[in-house]
Amino acid sequence: MNYENLANTYGTPLYIYNFDEVKLRYLELKESFYARKSLICYAVKANSNLSLLKYLANLGAGFDCVSYNEVKKALLAGALKYKIIFSGVGKKDSEIKSALKDDILMINIESFAELNRVEAIAKELNIEARISIRVNPNIDPKTHPYISTGLNENKFGVSIDEAKRMYIKAKNSKFLNPIGIHFHIGSQLSDIKPIHEAASIVAKLMKELKTLEIDIKFFDIGGGIGVRYKDEKEINLYEYAQGILAALKGQDVTIVCEIGRFLVSKAGELLTKVLYEKINNNKRFVIVDSAMNDLLRPSLYDAYHKIVALNGNDELFNCDIVGPVCESGDFLGKNRELPNLKSGDLLVVKNVGAYGFSMSSNYNSRLRAAEIAIINNKIKLIRKRETFEDLIANEVDLLGEE
Ligand code: LLP
Repeated sequence: MNYENLANTYGTPLYIYNFDEVKLRYLELKESFYARKSLICYAVKANSNLSLLKYLANLGAGFDCVSYNEVKKALLAGALKYKIIFSGVGKKDSEIKSALKDDILMINIESFAELNRVEAIAKELNIEARISIRVNPNIDPKTHPYISTGLNENKFGVSIDEAKRMYIKAKNSKFLNPIGIHFHIGSQLSDIKPIHEAASIVAKLMKELKTLEIDIKFFDIGGGIGVRYKDEKEINLYEYAQGILAALKGQDVTIVCEIGRFLVSKAGELLTKVLYEKINNNKRFVIVDSAMNDLLRPSLYDAYHKIVALNGNDELFNCDIVGPVCESGDFLGKNRELPNLKSGDLLVVKNVGAYGFSMSSNYNSRLRAAEIAIINNKIKLIRKRETFEDLIANEVDLLGEE
């Protein structure tokens, strides 16, 4: 890939996604559940670019959405409504109503209060809401505490006992149809044991529900498959799928996977330009034109992303790669070895296809980056760089109004 040309044509910072790579990951995951009914619902939050959603919809993917706007984006991208799931702890009435009207596959419910809301709204619409309940199996996923979700101390899901009460209520309601069961214990997981433990606990509950004549058809195992940013162990997909099947012990259900990071992370790179180098008290800083507003993961989670210099000689020196934002926490990498660089040299930040652009902001009134896709070796602009006009588009000039 000629990064120089890309930088000249599209400018920097620039997100570059290799869609062919996304396709390989999708097929790999689909294949691991071969011979079982499975539905891969891409977790839109990881990267919600419409072209990417469209590409995945064309491959046959479903979508896991956490706001009604994500549902709308999935539909706009051509997703089939019966492959869309709506999850999240805090859905608004208007969002629930719209999702029910759209007749999507199911709404993942996270509390008794939400179950009551969904029932009331379904009653108002005089329809039967297909639902799934998110069970919190109280399993430590052994990941970063900010992205760990399956412990009692987390806000997500409900306990096994509460779930049972909710299923019984749903079964007895004319307006609720419990078709799914759901768990998601965390993201960026490298150990499959906790996922399998959670699957066993939830499969056991599903079996119990059957004795109550509650017949679950969708077993939603959440997402969370980790990727290698530095030296993390990678999950073997075959073992991952086999463990889930073992936990199910022959129960006949469709397995739903809500995968985000695994599908798109490695396919993404962030191209950035060096602005300056400086040395403060013997500490070398490489200042680039991308910042925490473009890629928040290093600042928020102390996450590691490999950074590669495209220019410079072989001699490497220690440095921090930092952005122009006025925060000490604004860095892309710390204590890295890079050659001497000059203004205009290019760096590539790796593994940023997931939770990169989707977590970007306008902090410091910075304009969000452009995004391009590579499909069959062809380059396509899939999001224009923001302009100053975009930045102020929703602001109202109160002082100008007399
Ligand atoms: N399902 C549910 C209910 C989730 O909460 C998530 C992610 C997923 C599926 C997709 O998980 P994945 O396959 O991508 O691991 N911003 C953080 C990650 C937050 C994940 C939130 N939930 C990061 O940059 O690492």
